[in-house]
Amino acid sequence: MALEMGGAAAQMSGTDPTDLAWSFNHLDPAIAETAYDTLGTIRRGCPVARSGELGGFVLVTGYAEIREAARASDRFSAYVDGLGAAAVVTEMRDAIAPMFETDQEHHHQWRRLLQRFFTPAAAAAQEQYVRAVCREQLQELISHGAADLVGAYTRQVPPLVIGRVLGLAELERAWLSEHVRALYNAETHAEAQQAGRIYADFLLGQIRERRAHPGRDLLSRMVTTEVDGHTSGDDELVKMTMLMVAAGHLTTADVCATALLHLLEDQPLREHMASDPAMLEAFVEELVRYEPAVAATGRTVTAEARLGGMPLFPGDRLLLAWGSANRDERVFDDGDVFRLDRDRTTPQHLGWGAGEHRCLGRHLARVELRVMLTELLRALPGLRLQPGAAVRRTFGVIRGVAALPVRWERR
Ligand code: HEM
Repeated sequence: MALEMGGAAAQMSGTDPTDLAWSFNHLDPAIAETAYDTLGTIRRGCPVARSGELGGFVLVTGYAEIREAARASDRFSAYVDGLGAAAVVTEMRDAIAPMFETDQEHHHQWRRLLQRFFTPAAAAAQEQYVRAVCREQLQELISHGAADLVGAYTRQVPPLVIGRVLGLAELERAWLSEHVRALYNAETHAEAQQAGRIYADFLLGQIRERRAHPGRDLLSRMVTTEVDGHTSGDDELVKMTMLMVAAGHLTTADVCATALLHLLEDQPLREHMASDPAMLEAFVEELVRYEPAVAATGRTVTAEARLGGMPLFPGDRLLLAWGSANRDERVFDDGDVFRLDRDRTTPQHLGWGAGEHRCLGRHLARVELRVMLTELLRALPGLRLQPGAAVRRTFGVIRGVAALPVRWERR
């Protein structure tokens, strides 16, 4: 049950890693198929290197270096400009999202206040709802016999779940889901800006309503939280809510799609998972190591520092390539191989991040993924990729699959 990576690594062995790093741009769609081969060559030669793309940044690919940067919030801030996907609503670009983009004491206070919405028990309390949403989506699909599972399933379930965690009513969750889809399906920058504005207005309405009538839900908590004697302003809260929805939705949708692609390419593995859903937990954890949905996020240097021997100065931007850390040969045996029998205790993979910003939603993500995969494997027997279908991988801040055209036995 091992999936080997392609052979491009061998072809790259003659390429100078510092040149590869200099031209590396994680937001270039053309790199998706070969990203991990390229990152592997860079990592083995120079785990901290400069890229000349996107206005210049420092590409960090080694496990130890990424973990060090993620843990040292006194030198590396989580606020970073210009390394993420294009700003959705240009006017909000300067707003700093509490928690996601703040550091140290400010961050700790926020995180402590939101923790209770993300405990293992809180995640388990969503399981029944996740299952009901999955079954409803699948019920609609079963008679079709064919679909793109990304559009019809993996991107349908998570927005509704994160909407419920935020405390939105049923109809509002459906709107949230529509706004999010309009935004991520936009084909031009202008379309994305327009969809982003409509989405931001919708969230602002929800935020103002909770300011007037706070409840006990997560969004009310975010709206009423006071840190250092201040509640947050509208732009900060809209940006924070957008990041919360993106963190809860894009990631889970893409891990689910990547998981399905692995299962479709490996029939014995698929049969094993369908007959023993208890194995899905280990499967999901190894997938988050091997192909983490959060492929690369940024940090900004706030004080003179060194990382992997490289001198860094305030204002330098770092790109932490989490997925590369998880394949680092100095830490993982056969890092480029998907292996279900790995010892999961040490070393800990970085697919959920590291340090104080480590994924807050990981318990929820594990519940969602287990249920989404179990329900799908049960409902669609004889699942297979449509003959001749070319599946396009994506890479950027998020790693995933653009579309997954499949067939199954119609009932
Ligand atoms: C398989 C799915 C997921 C993966 C692989 C994942 C991965 C990550 C990673 C790597 C980070 C750290 C980013 C950084 O330090 O720059 C992160 C942060 C975060 N994730 Fe997740 N995530 C997933 C699902 C979720 C879900 C379902 C939620 C629910 C809302 C969530 C909420 C968050 C939040 C709130 C943070 C920021 C925490 C902070 O700044 O203190 N994630 N996630």
